[in-house]
Amino acid sequence: MIFGRVKPLDAILATARKKSLPRTLGAFQLTLFGIGCVIGTGIFVLTAAGAQKAGPGLMLAFVVAGAVCVVAALCYAEIASMIPVAGSAYTYTYSVMGELLAWTVGWALILEYAVAASAVSVGWSGYFVNTILYESMGIQLPTYLSAGPLALGGAEGGLINLPAVVIALLVTWLLMIGTTESARVNAVLVTIKITALTAFIALTIPRAEAANFSPFLPAGVFGGFGSGVGLVGAAATIFFAYVGFDAVSTAAEETKNPQRNVPIGLIGSLAICTVFYMLVAAGAVGTIGGQPIMGDTGPLTVGTPELARQCAMPQYADALVCSNEALAHVLRTIGFGTVGNMLGYAAFLALPSVILILLFGQTRIFFVMSRDGLLPEVLSNVHPKWKTPHVVTAITGTVVAFAAAFLPVGQLADIANAGTLYAFTMVAVAVWLLRRRDPKRERPFKVPALWLVAPLTIGGCLFLFFNLPAAAMLVLPAWGAIGLVIYFLYGYRSSHVGKGIIELHEDDPEAMPAMGITPPADPKA
Ligand code: ALA
Repeated sequence: MIFGRVKPLDAILATARKKSLPRTLGAFQLTLFGIGCVIGTGIFVLTAAGAQKAGPGLMLAFVVAGAVCVVAALCYAEIASMIPVAGSAYTYTYSVMGELLAWTVGWALILEYAVAASAVSVGWSGYFVNTILYESMGIQLPTYLSAGPLALGGAEGGLINLPAVVIALLVTWLLMIGTTESARVNAVLVTIKITALTAFIALTIPRAEAANFSPFLPAGVFGGFGSGVGLVGAAATIFFAYVGFDAVSTAAEETKNPQRNVPIGLIGSLAICTVFYMLVAAGAVGTIGGQPIMGDTGPLTVGTPELARQCAMPQYADALVCSNEALAHVLRTIGFGTVGNMLGYAAFLALPSVILILLFGQTRIFFVMSRDGLLPEVLSNVHPKWKTPHVVTAITGTVVAFAAAFLPVGQLADIANAGTLYAFTMVAVAVWLLRRRDPKRERPFKVPALWLVAPLTIGGCLFLFFNLPAAAMLVLPAWGAIGLVIYFLYGYRSSHVGKGIIELHEDDPEAMPAMGITPPADPKA
């Protein structure tokens, strides 16, 4: 019975204990790490797509998406502090609900991490092409090299997004040779991002005009099933701005007093981001307006040739919804050209680290899946010198670059969200089931009122999922079906658990290093 193929929790925990990384991280460092993973293309770029879906009410969409993430974060905090091992939602599901569902979660996490890395690469490209090449160096990259065929922003004539391909491959190479992000680099990049967003808020909020907020929700709260518009349609898209916070949970085993610090890190980073996001959205909409470009039946769909055509019209030259470097564009439009460019530099410097964290997460999950026998073992080969899983990193990076070359950022983000929402749902189910089945097991962090928080997480994730555009919704079952075929052709037969081998490699010296957020050891200690 495949549902009986469960990785025994005790074996996982025994291995985790053997590995026992030094507990060095406090609440502040975890919060910084969370913010480093989270702030990226979502706020810097997708603000435009969000406004096209919701209109000025975009700020509320950030609250809706943030609220779903907070309850999901509580569930992550409980299971991550309990099972602090690599593989995140995949491993949790394996130990609670068995191999088949774990495989589907691992498969969906490809959407969360790899597709999100493509989305952030495309977002970075917008800032590179406009702020760095055009505004600073006077170089105009032809559209056929700077945008995929369906990009937002008047990009008719797009063919390939070359800068996005280059950054995705560059980050892949850095990962292959063993680069991880140090706590210090993360702190610097977080400071840069927070400074840029603070400057944005300080310059825009005082100039916001009430008239720009009316009508507040031109496409209503629910734009209609499958349309992906309206307040909740926008929430489902800009949910992307929060993707990545679950990385904090993977640092549970390196955290001092995880009972207190993991939830503070998760909730703290989400709360800080939500406040920033709301204020940024209010500043952007309040100054230059955020009304969607309407078609016959409602806002035109993001990523369609029709919207691209409209955006190319002179009357929309300054429209927020047409910009592919939304925040810098707002500042320039209201007369702060230099600060706008500086914000562009901030995005240019900081977004690659988000790509790095996402790609790292992806390779880590593939690595664990291949060590479980569900993917070919060659994928978990570790390079003798670099000590990284170079094969899987190279393959992942190439696919990420390919998707970034041709797909628009909004669609990529929606697809990433579909996979992430599935994984979050399964984590909430796993936490709930485990509490019922094994209530006595030690839990360094216990979700308060789980009977309420777990269903809220599951309901919230399903709610956002069913408000994605139809195409993004359909990707999940289609992707899942491909995954199941691969599982039954390969994983089912070669699974180590299926063969009765319980081997956990967490303590293997050959295993790749963890994400390097642990501060360097104190030489005097
Ligand atoms: N939340 C991350 C971003 O917005 C993925 O770029």
